[in-house]
Amino acid sequence: MFRIIYRETLAAKIHLFKIEAPAIARKALAGQFVVVRIDERGERIPLTLADWDAKEGSVTLVFMEVGATTFRLAFLKAGDSIADFVGPLGVPAHIDNFGTIVCVAGGVGVAVIAPIARALKEKGNKIISILGARSKDLLFWEDKLRSVSNQLIVTTDDGTYGRKGVVTEPLKELLESGEKVDRIIAIGPTTQPFGVKTIVSLNPIMVDGTGMCGCCRVSVGGVTKLACVDGPDFDGHQVDWDLLSARQRTYLDEEKRSFEHWQAQLGKRR
Ligand SMILES: Cc1cc2nc3c(=O)[nH]c(=O)nc-3n(C[C@H](O)[C@H](O)[C@H](O)COP(=O)(O)OP(=O)(O)OC[C@H]3O[C@@H](n4cnc5c(N)ncnc54)[C@H](O)[C@@H]3O)c2cc1C
Ligand code: FES
Repeated sequence: MFRIIYRETLAAKIHLFKIEAPAIARKALAGQFVVVRIDERGERIPLTLADWDAKEGSVTLVFMEVGATTFRLAFLKAGDSIADFVGPLGVPAHIDNFGTIVCVAGGVGVAVIAPIARALKEKGNKIISILGARSKDLLFWEDKLRSVSNQLIVTTDDGTYGRKGVVTEPLKELLESGEKVDRIIAIGPTTQPFGVKTIVSLNPIMVDGTGMCGCCRVSVGGVTKLACVDGPDFDGHQVDWDLLSARQRTYLDEEKRSFEHWQAQLGKRR
């Protein structure tokens, strides 16, 4: 069993768990993830290693409540335990001295990009980060991302904090300004072909996380890849986004039923 040693709610429906997992903390690298199963009735879900502390023997996860499992996870308290916790999984992010890198993340994506930005900064890159959220009250880890960035631009869709708008607008302006950008790292879809190599972290449905079930297959440059063992980072200009999005919707009915079931079971306790 893996004990939750600290928990915090960072924003509405976004939670941080620090979990005792010394073997994973010792090996963790930026860009890797774990597969979590709450108990023997639970489904497996992948969550990124948002941080880790080898000395303390802990890893940090940040997750957003979107369906049954993340809803159930949010009910756990410090002192509770998680049955299965497998990792670190996935290919670590490619960390090198590329020059100037723009890191782009919206919402919970900041937890995915923060360790990558930190590792790239430690390699001597200039980091320009663009962080977005729908609204000010959904922003978190601004300071953490700022501490590993040479420049940080914040956007909110409703203009309640930072620039009003979405993250792609300052990104476009930056690239059009003549700033030499060597690489873009983005969390989630980015379809705009800026002519700059763009690495994206994909989040297809995963089951085992070890290349056995084929559930997480994605098409990149016309070649089928398994996001769990070949990724989750890929060249964003090569990803077949339509296929990914269609595959993500495969179990919508089942996901809805499962969410409703757990809402009925646990929701009354809120
Ligand atoms: C490698 C990898 C790393 C990930 N890291 C993180 C992480 O660090 N933090 C985190 O919060 N999530 C992360 N995710 C996504 C996370 O695994 C899913 O949110 C989770 O599996 C949802 O499970 P569920 O049972 O709660 O919801 P489900 O029942 O599986 O899904 C419910 C609904 O939410 C939609 N949905 C699923 N994921 C998301 C999403 N991310 N945003 C919006 N809608 C979504 C589904 O399409 C579905 O309609 C990661 C995914 C991958 C593949
Ligand atoms: S999650 Fe099963 S092959 Fe990737």
